[in-house]
Amino acid sequence: MSKEVLIQEPKGKLGVLLPGMGAVATTFMAGVEAVRRGLGQPIGSLTQMGTIRLGKRTEKRVPTIRQFVPLAPLDDLVFAGWDIRDENCYQTALQGGVLEGRLLEQVRDFLEGVRPMPAVFDQHYVRRLEGTHVKKGQNKLELAQRLQEDIENFRARTGVSRTVMVWCGSTEIFLKPQDVHQSLENFECGLKENHPAIAPSMIYAYAALKSGVPFANGAPNLTVDIPALVELAKQNSLPIAGKDFKTGQTLMKTIIAPGLKARLIGLSGWFSTNILGNRDGEVLDDPESFRTKEESKLSVLEHILQPSLYPDLYKGFHHQVRINYYPPRGDNKEGWDNIDIFGWLGYPMQIKIDFLCRDSILAAPIVLDLVLFLDLAQRAGMRGIQEWLSFYFKSPMCAPTVYPEHDLFIQLMKLKNTLRYLRGEELITHLGLEYYD
Ligand SMILES: NC(=O)c1ccc[n+]([C@@H]2O[C@H](COP(=O)([O-])OP(=O)(O)OC[C@H]3O[C@@H](n4cnc5c(N)ncnc54)[C@H](O)[C@@H]3O)[C@@H](O)[C@H]2O)c1
Repeated sequence: MSKEVLIQEPKGKLGVLLPGMGAVATTFMAGVEAVRRGLGQPIGSLTQMGTIRLGKRTEKRVPTIRQFVPLAPLDDLVFAGWDIRDENCYQTALQGGVLEGRLLEQVRDFLEGVRPMPAVFDQHYVRRLEGTHVKKGQNKLELAQRLQEDIENFRARTGVSRTVMVWCGSTEIFLKPQDVHQSLENFECGLKENHPAIAPSMIYAYAALKSGVPFANGAPNLTVDIPALVELAKQNSLPIAGKDFKTGQTLMKTIIAPGLKARLIGLSGWFSTNILGNRDGEVLDDPESFRTKEESKLSVLEHILQPSLYPDLYKGFHHQVRINYYPPRGDNKEGWDNIDIFGWLGYPMQIKIDFLCRDSILAAPIVLDLVLFLDLAQRAGMRGIQEWLSFYFKSPMCAPTVYPEHDLFIQLMKLKNTLRYLRGEELITHLGLEYYD
């Protein structure tokens, strides 16, 4: 057994800061409050409902994850955030139409108490939105300082002992990594000079890390996934994670593709299309925002199937992803997949998936787990990119020397083994020879 890592106890309240208080953020907050009031169950959340096997199978030690590692209890979470619209979270949740009115009424007082602070926003980066509730500043550095003041005021007002930030804002336009992203020095010059390759989400990430706040990114934008901010996270000993919550169609892809590959079934094409009618869908209707999303969605299969290792099975497979903005469907997305596969002697077969899902219902437990695990990582002294949280992302951040791991089952094993490692428990390899002596 390895040595247990020293983890500070989660004493005091945990502040949860959310830039972007739309469908996902309000469904998450309303859900946490509903669970706290005994009105619902936190389905889909590993931190709340997951278990972890320890030692040999014969030992029958399977605690829940929250018994095993010291996580902040839900009662300790305190919320705040920023948005470009000045309406309280009850109004936003009601308009979003994700949760039923009856449930929202029961947590109305709580949601009305959360009102977004003015945002750092520039329409250049999200073309389909217009911001009315936004901060002003001479340059991007000054805007970051305004956010840092907000964080300090939030801490003073609520008395939280720790804080984490999760980007739940809209998807920004596609940006390629550039010189200004390559070092903290360049980035800070860029902030002063209003460099166009510094998007608002990066300003939030910078402000969080400057203020000692761990940061996770739920959208596909680069945001914290640039060397400058990885450097800042390491310098300030803070955990970071991203990008793009793994829900819906990509979740299905990373469940099915590893299975096909495990059985060496070939793939000639995977066509994915969606209809989606919420604000996220409207933002993604802009080709520049869609491009950011597309990059994130497309990389998944390539990494799981590894065509260079299996050219006969996967070389040159055709992969296409479409998102169609279709307002009548609201947050209740429908995703179709047509998968053209081939088996023994190359005989073709097809799989069809029609997933009638609910985007924010799938994303909310991810936000909760990221909040609690980032806080755990911070108390355990883990800094920089947290690859063990890849489980939650479509486009996981990882060290520049490795490729990202997309296979959901490897990701889960990595996550659980990290928790075992933190607690000085044996890692589980599934070798199991000891049962057959
Ligand atoms: N729901 C899912 O399944 C899912 C999955 C993966 C990723 N995401 C991503 O999560 C994000 C949130 O999704 P959603 O469905 O809640 O979208 P949404 O449009 O309902 O909410 C996004 C909110 O961000 C606000 N916003 C935009 N720019 C901002 C800024 N600079 N500062 C502060 N607020 C800003 C918008 O006004 C809006 O209220 C999107 O980027 C989406 O692509 C969602």
